[in-house]
This record gives sequence, C-alpha cells and structure tokens, in this order.
Amino acid sequence: MLPLAKSSEGAQWALQHLLCFFCSILLSLATLTLSQLDPTYFLRDCSETSGNYTANSTYEANLNTIISRFSTLREFNYGFFNLSAGESPDQVHSIALCRGDMNQADCNTCLSYTATELKRVCPFNKAATAWSELCLVRYANRDLYGRLENDPRACAYNTMNVSNPDQFNRTLSDLLVDLSSEAATSGPLRKYAAGNALAGSGNPGRVYATVQCTPDMDQQNCTTCLQYARDELQNCCYGRIGCRVLRPNCVLRFESNLFYNQTAVPLPSPPPSPTPSPTPNRGNENKATRAVMFVIALLLCWIC
Ligand SMILES: *[C@@H]1O[C@H](CO)[C@@H](O)[C@H](O)[C@H]1NC(C)=O
Ligand SMILES: *[C@@H]1O[C@H](CO)[C@@H](O)[C@H](O)[C@H]1NC(C)=O
Ligand SMILES: *[C@@H]1O[C@H](CO)[C@@H](O)[C@H](O)[C@H]1NC(C)=O
Ligand SMILES: *[C@@H]1O[C@H](CO)[C@@H](O)[C@H](O)[C@H]1NC(C)=O
Ligand SMILES: *[C@@H]1O[C@H](CO)[C@@H](O)[C@H](O)[C@H]1NC(C)=O
Ligand SMILES: *[C@@H]1O[C@H](CO)[C@@H](O)[C@H](O)[C@H]1NC(C)=O
Ligand SMILES: *[C@@H]1O[C@H](CO)[C@@H](O)[C@H](O)[C@H]1NC(C)=O
Repeated sequence: MLPLAKSSEGAQWALQHLLCFFCSILLSLATLTLSQLDPTYFLRDCSETSGNYTANSTYEANLNTIISRFSTLREFNYGFFNLSAGESPDQVHSIALCRGDMNQADCNTCLSYTATELKRVCPFNKAATAWSELCLVRYANRDLYGRLENDPRACAYNTMNVSNPDQFNRTLSDLLVDLSSEAATSGPLRKYAAGNALAGSGNPGRVYATVQCTPDMDQQNCTTCLQYARDELQNCCYGRIGCRVLRPNCVLRFESNLFYNQTAVPLPSPPPSPTPSPTPNRGNENKATRAVMFVIALLLCWIC
C-alpha cells in the first residue's frame, strides 16, 4: 500500500497529465482544422467562349445575387447546390459542391469565399469555374445541372516523386477503382468516397485518396467522369507523391498524408445497394488515425 501523501501526489501527477493530454488533443485537432481550411489553393477557369457581361448589367446583378446567396445558405443539402437567379437572357445558373467530408459551416465558408474570389479573378466572364481546397463552384449563362462535360478541367501535382512508381501506381489504381465504384453507387445525395492503401516498401508507405462526383450525375455519368479522371491521372500524376485531377463534374485527389476528415456528416438512409459491402479500408483507417492521434498526443504530452 502506498502512503497517503504519495497517493495524492500521484493523483495530482495524473490530473496534470490528463489535462495536458486533452490540451494536446485539442491542439492537434486545431492544427488539422487550420491546415484543412487554408484557402490558398485555388485553380480557376474563366470561360472565353461563353461571352462577357458588362459592368452594372442585369447579368452582373444576377451573379451578385447568387454569390450573396452562398454567404447566407441556411440548408446544407450534403454540400451540393443548384442555384439560379434572374430570367433569360440574363439568367445565371450555378452548381456548387463541397468535399464530401465537410460540415455545413466549413462548406458555407468555402463556397462563399470561392464564389467571391472567382468573380474577382474572372471579371466580366459570364461563365467560370473554380476548384479550391474544399469546394467547387461553377456559374454560367446556361443550365449546368446533370450535364456531363469534359471542360474545363485541370490537373495539379506535387513535384515530389514516389520512390517506387510502378508499385505505387498499381496500389493507387486499385484503390481508385474501388473508391470510384463506391462513390458512383452511393446514392443521389452525395457521391463521395475516401480511403487509403498500403503502398509497399517505398516512400510513401501509404496513399490516401478521395473521389467525388457532383450528385446531379447519375451512377453511369459519375462512373464515366471518374474513369476520365483516372485516365488523366495516368498522364498527369504518374510517379507523383500527390495529385489532383479536377473536372466540371468530378474530382479526384491523392496524397501521402491523411488530408480528409474521416467522419463525414452521415446520410439519412443507407445507399440502395442490395448487398451491404464491408469496407475494410475504413476500419483500418480509423484505427490508424486513432493510433496516429494517440502517438501525437503522447509526444506532445511528454514535452508538456
Ligand atoms: C471578355 O473579357 C475578357 C476579360 O476582360 C477579355 O479578355 C476578352 O477579350 C473579352 N471578350 C470579348 C469577346 O469581349
Ligand atoms: C457601375 O456602378 C458603379 C457604382 O454605382 C459606378 O461607380 C460605375 O461607374 C458604374 N460603371 C458603369 C460602367 O456604369
Ligand atoms: C437546377 O437549376 C435549374 C436552373 O438553373 C433548374 O431549371 C432545375 O430545375 C434545377 N434542378 C433541380 C433538380 O433542382
Ligand atoms: C470532422 O467532421 C466531424 C463531423 O462533421 C466534425 O465534428 C469534426 O469537427 C471534423 N473534424 C475536423 C478536424 O475537421
Ligand atoms: C449523362 O450525361 C449526358 C451528357 O451530358 C446527358 O445527356 C445525360 O442526360 C446524363 N444522364 C443522366 C441520366 O443524367
Ligand atoms: C520527379 O520526376 C520528374 C519526371 O521524371 C522530374 O522531372 C522531376 O525533376 C522529379 N522531381 C523531383 C523533385 O525529383
Ligand atoms: C498504372 O497501373 C494501371 C493499372 O494497373 C495500368 O493500367 C497503367 O498502365 C499503369 N500506368 C503506368 C504509367 O504504368
């Protein structure tokens, strides 16, 4: 039996370290959130073929209406919006999509920022598209809903290379085929999938990926879009440690680090799939994250 004084010292020690532990968990969560919301990533296409509007025109007023609506969105709709303002010929149509792991607050922030920034960098273009870190915004003088389109598109890669490109490519290709089919079949509200796979003995050892279609794509068009994206990946991303393929109706991204939130806002009902397929990826992923978080917290705690 320990003497009383020792035991209360022990309790104090435990309490201090418990506080320290929670403090470090909060810290690491905060760091993750900050890095995820970093708005510096921004790719855009100002359409040269859809015509220009003039300053203070009805078209501009309608566009401003849509942009202001992004900052006052009350519904979440699982991060997907099909908006329009005004009447033909000055009607403005817009499609917007947040990454599938976004919650409502972060989604609204991203859409509002991205739409505002898009108009600023594409002054007078009637149609434009932007892909930012966490969302996609398009607007045009035509209806965009449900149309599978090939342009505009972009690809952005990390200049760092993997050490074992063939093995990495095989692992990544398999992972993306699985994720694409999961996203395409995940129902009308959200078409998103995220996962990771062991990439073998080289660097990096693991690859993390997300794929997503705008949910106005049906299963077939989503499948087609992601197939195009994977083809483009072969051209643009081979051997790279991270890369994004960006299209009007779908996006694909992979990295060597866990860059997405593993908890997405749950959908109201399970996908209409007759055979509920287990997702071994997810379980491993959750365990891995928890382990990583634990180690980070422990390290911080040690210092603390
Ligand atoms: C539309 O506006 C852009 C950007 O201001 C300009 O470069 C382009 O020449 C304009 N196009 C037409 C057809 O006026
Ligand atoms: C558009 O409106 C602004 C503010 O009312 C004004 O300063 C600007 O001169 C107008 N531009 C044109 C081209 O009419
Ligand atoms: C999407 O918006 C367009 C107008 O831009 C509208 O005609 C169409 O009905 C909307 N579709 C859905 C499914 O809400
Ligand atoms: C991850 O998503 C969940 C659910 O939306 C949210 O509660 C949590 O704060 C998110 N975490 C991060 C680090 O963004
Ligand atoms: C798929 O995309 C094509 C091309 O835009 C479109 O014509 C078709 O209606 C789409 N299919 C569905 C079911 O939405
Ligand atoms: C990565 O590989 C490409 C193509 O082989 C090469 O041009 C580039 O310099 C490499 N980058 C680094 C950082 O080594
Ligand atoms: C990457 O792997 C896929 C699937 O195995 C294969 O079809 C493709 O040709 C590979 N790419 C390269 C550049 O080797």
